[in-house]
Amino acid sequence: MQLRKSTVLALISLCVVLLNAAPVPTGATSTNAIASIDPRLIYLLPPGFVGNLALNFVDTVTSDSTIAGSFLAAKRAPFISYDPEFLQIIGESPNSPQLISQRDELFADEAGVWVPDKNQVWFTSSTVNNAGNLSILDLGTSKIFRPNTSIPLVTPNGGYYFEGKVYFTGQGTTTVEPCIYAIDIHTYETTIVINSYFGLRFGGPNDLTWARRRSRDGKKSFMFFSDEPQSYVFAGGLPPMLPNAVWRYDPEDESIVPVISRADILVPNGVAVNADSSKLYVTDTPFAAAYLPAETPSSGSPAIFSFELDEDGFPVNKRMLGIARSGIPDGIKVDDAGRIWTGEGEGIVVRNSRGKVLGVFNSEIFLENYQNEPPIANFALADDTLVVLAMQRVWTLKLAQTVVSPDRYRM
Ligand SMILES: *[C@@H]1O[C@H](CO)[C@@H](O)[C@H](O)[C@H]1NC(C)=O
Ligand SMILES: *[C@@H]1O[C@H](CO)[C@@H](O)[C@H](O)[C@H]1NC(C)=O
Repeated sequence: MQLRKSTVLALISLCVVLLNAAPVPTGATSTNAIASIDPRLIYLLPPGFVGNLALNFVDTVTSDSTIAGSFLAAKRAPFISYDPEFLQIIGESPNSPQLISQRDELFADEAGVWVPDKNQVWFTSSTVNNAGNLSILDLGTSKIFRPNTSIPLVTPNGGYYFEGKVYFTGQGTTTVEPCIYAIDIHTYETTIVINSYFGLRFGGPNDLTWARRRSRDGKKSFMFFSDEPQSYVFAGGLPPMLPNAVWRYDPEDESIVPVISRADILVPNGVAVNADSSKLYVTDTPFAAAYLPAETPSSGSPAIFSFELDEDGFPVNKRMLGIARSGIPDGIKVDDAGRIWTGEGEGIVVRNSRGKVLGVFNSEIFLENYQNEPPIANFALADDTLVVLAMQRVWTLKLAQTVVSPDRYRM
């Protein structure tokens, strides 16, 4: 999901102006500075501080000159660390992020699907004028190209790689039903897998993931996808017919069932499972952040929730895991160590499995202009490489450890 449509549209014209400021040439690197911030400052600051919801934690104004100095340094650093575990991920002397591509359009917004079999990351653009684009980054050559899918992907959004195919949500338009696509990674043969619930349109599938479970009756795989009025709000589609929900598709059983209600998660957004598919993570979106003026009351929160998947593969035991400091938690991935990575207003935020914020890949560095551009919504974890989808920019960063191994996709 992107920011509010009006914001995005206003930004597109703004971005064109901003782009002319000081373009970073493709192939350039940012610095590799780490700003380590005392984690106690997260919950205790000298009285009199002024925090700004529209900005980031390190933009907090404080009269303490030492803290102010460390916040200023953090604004200029790509890596903000709150815990030594973050330094294990990036390395004590990290690599510099590499700028792979920079364009005028919001071409790198969503999905971030690592396809280990092809050493590629597939990603989607923002939906602009009721259309969007799928692009593929070849990690070997650092080249980006557009695949020729056998049928057009009209307004693709989130995606996931599973058994030779990349699955994408499609938000649809007035004339095209919101749906789930499956694309063969070799031939780009594309089929529509889901587009109806008893003849009703979905509101706009947002994100999806596959879970592999060893259930009582043998090995099974399920697809979970979030559905909410994306089509109407972002893609010129019809008003929603179905309530927001997370759905589970079971291809073996040939069934589709709703498994998380809007009473549990108001506007389900990002969905992800951990390495052994024992847990499902879903992000929520305050209705205000998504669709309505900021002052509109809303029961949702910009939060990450975890569920256990029971022995039948159903989500149970909902627990809140985190609240985004800025913006909403969007793209979500769980690494092999069980850490939860989300795209938020501050950048890409990494939490441990107990919810402690370990560190942040700072949006103030990765975005062209963090105060006036939509925030980083998604990214990819590809072995030991982080691919940052920074709207008008794509970056790669070699980490100090494998965060998601290819085994995840070869069970
Ligand atoms: C999608 O691709 C078309 C054709 O190349 C281009 O005009 C448009 O700006 C792209 N949209 C985005 C959001 O990248
Ligand atoms: C897609 O088709 C066009 C026109 O036939 C061709 O020029 C282009 O190379 C193709 N792209 C890919 C990725 O195959």
